Amino acid sequence: TTAIVETDVVVVGSGPAGSAAALLLSSLGIPNIMITKYRWTANTPRAHITNQRAMEIFRDLGIEDQVLADATPHHLVGDTVFCTSIAGEEIGRIRTWGTRPDREADYQLASPCLTVDIPQTYLEPILVRNATARGTQSRFSTEYLSHTQDDAGVDVQVLDRLTGAEYTIRAKYLIGADGARSKVAADVGLPYEGAMDIAGSMNITFKADIAAYVGHRPSVLYWVIQPGSDVGGIGAGLVRVIRPWNEWLIVWGYDINEAPPVVDDAAATQIVRNLLGMPDLEVEITGTSLWGNNEMYATHLQSGRVFCAGDAIHRHPPSNGLGSNTSIQDAYNLAWKLAAVLRGQADPSLLETYSTERAPVAERIVKRANKSSREFVDLFVALGVTEAETEEDMVRRIEERKANTPEGAAKRAALVAAMELKNYEFNAHGVELGQFYESTAIVPDGTTRPEPARDPDLYYEASTVPGSRLPHAWVGDNTRRLAMMDLAPYDRFTVITGIAGEQWEVAAEKVAHELGVPVQTVVIGPGREVTDLYYDWAKLRDIEEDGALLVRPDKHIAWRSAALPADPEGALRDALARVLGRV
Ligand code: FDA
Repeated sequence: TTAIVETDVVVVGSGPAGSAAALLLSSLGIPNIMITKYRWTANTPRAHITNQRAMEIFRDLGIEDQVLADATPHHLVGDTVFCTSIAGEEIGRIRTWGTRPDREADYQLASPCLTVDIPQTYLEPILVRNATARGTQSRFSTEYLSHTQDDAGVDVQVLDRLTGAEYTIRAKYLIGADGARSKVAADVGLPYEGAMDIAGSMNITFKADIAAYVGHRPSVLYWVIQPGSDVGGIGAGLVRVIRPWNEWLIVWGYDINEAPPVVDDAAATQIVRNLLGMPDLEVEITGTSLWGNNEMYATHLQSGRVFCAGDAIHRHPPSNGLGSNTSIQDAYNLAWKLAAVLRGQADPSLLETYSTERAPVAERIVKRANKSSREFVDLFVALGVTEAETEEDMVRRIEERKANTPEGAAKRAALVAAMELKNYEFNAHGVELGQFYESTAIVPDGTTRPEPARDPDLYYEASTVPGSRLPHAWVGDNTRRLAMMDLAPYDRFTVITGIAGEQWEVAAEKVAHELGVPVQTVVIGPGREVTDLYYDWAKLRDIEEDGALLVRPDKHIAWRSAALPADPEGALRDALARVLGRV
């Protein structure tokens, strides 16, 4: 007989998706068990760029300070360099992740948080530690084997890899956050578009203090164009910071149609020296691994009581730095819905909106990341190196950009355009922040989003049309400064209004009581809980002062009322009941 343990939610995987899901569930007081196959968290740095939306989630969870303490700070992330090697010729720089002054304004206006860099080896322990401290039962060296589901729950078969013992976890729901080769997703037969292993990459981690070459152009990414740079991989050779400026990760491509290369210490050292352009450098190689680049996304994310999140549903190259960010955001979308259903506050149909809302995000980011990776070709074409037949020929062609000749001038002009295009990888603010949901958990108000004034991939545009992310503004009083998102905690719905809309307060109280769902009201105005410090909110809210926004726990706007209706209570009740699937 096998032991049976019970919980509400089993989370398979302790990567960004799984550990974030466990932390969110525990923060909401939902019993959960997180199992993970290995002895500890990620053993290689892997994902690192942590964007504003993920940082907002950490802020919401009260762990932003812990993440910042371990992260490379914002002002060091962005002078991204393209070069022939770290010590070699510089082809150009692009300010990335919102560090160019004009873009910095866009980023700062859009969120209380800025993009930072925290390698997965530092981030995962923070998420796991906080999840466990808040209630998650974390089981390392524990492998998911299979599951069966019935009307009331899921039986998850797991293996304790230390003792060899198998046991069953009986749960109400299962989250498969078990990565790009997800067994959970395969077991429930999620539908996918695209292909796996379209290009090969190797990671080499090493220690070498190269501050003298990078400290004056601080960035977490240095892209290297050398012979072999356009074979496989992620667009070009990459020297990436783990710790400034003495711990690094190189990503170098290989031809996936050939036998996998053997990357021993000698081979790794040679690649490091080549990309750094330092033939005699003393290098300490700390690890190597091979991985496949994918272009695949699930078109449906759920089967009954089983949900998949993270790389299990979106698999793509690291371009745009979307992998771990999107994985964390999946969990943010799912956890409050599970909690609402488990507490009987919402109809189980609410859970279907996870797939409706997140599957389009998965498709968008997989396509964007792969497009960005391919767009490196423009840089190679601009330099004319795609046709180079020998190494000397490649050097000569790169050298040609200096010449006072028509060819030289053409190259310089082509480089301007090729560099400009990389904004779609490194300053794609719209992709990072512009997620908009359409589902039964969003109640339309008859309006549509305004036509974007600027490129929607590059620029985020604030809106309060239902489905949008709550716009950011600073509010507070003479003693504190809060972000709009701080007014709407993850454990409740929030009605936001102005002084003329005070009546919403009574309405929300009644509706909350009647539906048994936590709803709070925040009245923004002088002398109230918070005031509109810079008078920015008045311009962003896009409703009358007596109108209201109904904000979901995940800070997306569920519904809005342009002004105070005759029966605010009825209007709010109707909207909230629809969001929760209770009509
Ligand atoms: P993730 O793969 O992180 O985690 C899966 C979890 O499931 C692990 O904890 C594992 O132990 C567990 N698991 C798997 N099978 C299990 C089973 N049967 N039973 C129990 N547990 C099981 N992204 C980026 O933005 N920049 C980068 O540089 C890189 N580099 C990179 C390198 C390599 C080698 C890989 C594989 C991936 C990257 N990525 C990346 C992608 C990035 O790491 C990825 O998007 C996130 O880790 C996804 O997080 P998940 O939590 O979804 O899966």
